[in-house]
Amino acid sequence: MRRFVVLGRTATAGADFSLDDLPGSSGRLDVLLRCVRAALLLSHGLRRDTAIYLVLQGGPLAPRTIRIDGRTAEYLRPDERSLAGAVRNLLGRDHSALRGLAFGESTRGVAIALGGLDAVLADLAEGAGTAFTPYMLDEGPGARDVREAPIDLEHPVFFVGDHLGFDDDARARLEALGAQRLSLGPVSVHADDAIVLLANELDRRGCG
Ligand SMILES: C[S@@+](CC[C@H](N)C(=O)[O-])C[C@H]1O[C@@H](n2cnc3c(N)ncnc32)[C@H](O)[C@@H]1O
Repeated sequence: MRRFVVLGRTATAGADFSLDDLPGSSGRLDVLLRCVRAALLLSHGLRRDTAIYLVLQGGPLAPRTIRIDGRTAEYLRPDERSLAGAVRNLLGRDHSALRGLAFGESTRGVAIALGGLDAVLADLAEGAGTAFTPYMLDEGPGARDVREAPIDLEHPVFFVGDHLGFDDDARARLEALGAQRLSLGPVSVHADDAIVLLANELDRRGCG
C-alpha cells in the first residue's frame, strides 16, 4: 500500500469556496485536488493500492484532514470541478460527532479528521497496522535521487508540499520522524507532477 500526504499550507478546511473560482477562493485547494487525481486515478479506474491524505491548514476551521482510500473509494472523477464539489460537500457536513484526532468515514473510502499532521501520524501508526517508512519529496539540495534510493515497497508514506512547499514546522516534524528526503530530478515540478513521477517509479519497482 502506498500512501501520499499532501500538506496544504493555505488550502481551506471549510466549505466556503466557489467552484467557479477554485484557485482564488479556496486557498489553492485546487493544487491538492490535482494530487488526488495524480495519486489515485488511472486512465481507466482507480489505484486500489493507494491512499492519499489532504491536510487542510487554511481558514478558521483548520486544521482538518481528508483521507481517500483507493481500496474502497467509489465514483471518483478525474476532473477538478467534480472533486472540488465532493470535497465541498464533505467539508460542509456536521462533523461534531468526531472525537479527538480519529477519522470518521463519510462515504465509502472517504474520511475526515479534525486535525492536521497529528491526525495523519496517529492514523498511520494505527491504521497501517505496521511500521511505515516516511519519505519527504524535496527538490532542495541534499535530497537523495529517487533512482538510486532504496524504497520500502510495502508500507511507504510520501509527504508532499503544496505550491509553497513545506513550512519549517512540518519540515522539522518530518525530520524528527526520520523521513528520508527524496529528489525526483533537478527541477521543481508541481506537486501533482511530483506524485506522477514517483508513482511511475513505484510502478516500475512493483510497489503496490
Ligand atoms: C511546487 S513544489 C514546491 C515549490 C516551493 N516553492 C518550494 O520551494 O518548496 C511542490 C512540492 O512538490 C514536490 N516536488 C516538486 N519538485 C520536486 C523534485 N524535483 N523532487 C522532489 N520533490 C519535488 C515537493 O514535495 C514540493 O514541496
